[in-house]
Amino acid sequence: MRPVPGVRRISLLRQWVRFTGSADYWESNYSHGGNSGDGSYGELAQGKADFLNAFVRDHSIASVVELGCGDGNQLSLADYPRYAGLDVSPSAIAMCKERFAEDPTKSFFRYDTDCYADRGGWFSADLALSLDVVYHLIEDNVFESYMRHLFAAGKRYVVLYSTNTTLPGTAPHVRHRRFSPWVDAECQQWRLMAAAPGPGVGPGRADFFVYERAAPGPVPDRLLASPLRITVIDTQRTGCSQGGYRAGRRYWADGSRFLCRKCERRT
Ligand SMILES: C[S@@+](CC[C@H](N)C(=O)[O-])C[C@H]1O[C@@H](n2cnc3c(N)ncnc32)[C@H](O)[C@@H]1O
Repeated sequence: MRPVPGVRRISLLRQWVRFTGSADYWESNYSHGGNSGDGSYGELAQGKADFLNAFVRDHSIASVVELGCGDGNQLSLADYPRYAGLDVSPSAIAMCKERFAEDPTKSFFRYDTDCYADRGGWFSADLALSLDVVYHLIEDNVFESYMRHLFAAGKRYVVLYSTNTTLPGTAPHVRHRRFSPWVDAECQQWRLMAAAPGPGVGPGRADFFVYERAAPGPVPDRLLASPLRITVIDTQRTGCSQGGYRAGRRYWADGSRFLCRKCERRT
């Protein structure tokens, strides 16, 4: 039965008043018996799994990392050789730990956007996944860090399953945004390889966006031209386009493209 409009409005108002941030929201949801939501169950979950399992098989993916793994129900439909799931909610990680306790191919870790600097690539994998997470990243700084970590985690591919449009929020923990302009501007080693419709319907439908890491090539001539322009980049705003970001370091700058010295040497 649908709630009458007045009751629904009061319930929404309560949600707004109680909302103290995206991480708190999800921890409170899981610790009070909630789950990852409709998108992780039933036909929607099966549609996501069918797409991802075929992708993993067809592209010989050996390892998968997921930022925002949720309660593990979606994962129960997955056929991945090796998997690491990270989530902001300790309760979600506890659920996954228990559910997959007998499965040595699956590992789980608590993720905190502010306490994460994976310079050694410990959490990187052939495929990095973000499923039904981007439109839950309410705070701009959280979105920014999450996206950087996601693209740094993908050795070959990143698949996002999300909306990619601005829509009015239906609840305080939902913020639909266009993420693709951010990827175009910040991840120049990546190209959108494919976009495919998701299994859902309606304006808030999430779709699949498959990004492929371009093969590292030689440093472009214009970057090698002497004298190189050296710019100290604001550490909060931008970073190396290959994810080799080091706070406080100097970066070669060429228009909108940045390479830190470590990556520049590697290419
Ligand atoms: C709708 S659920 C989707 C879970 C899972 N990816 C799936 O498809 O079933 C969204 C998940 O994103 C997680 N989340 C929210 N903000 C996050 C963040 N900044 N970093 C990582 N996970 C986050 C939540 O804790 C929640 O488990």
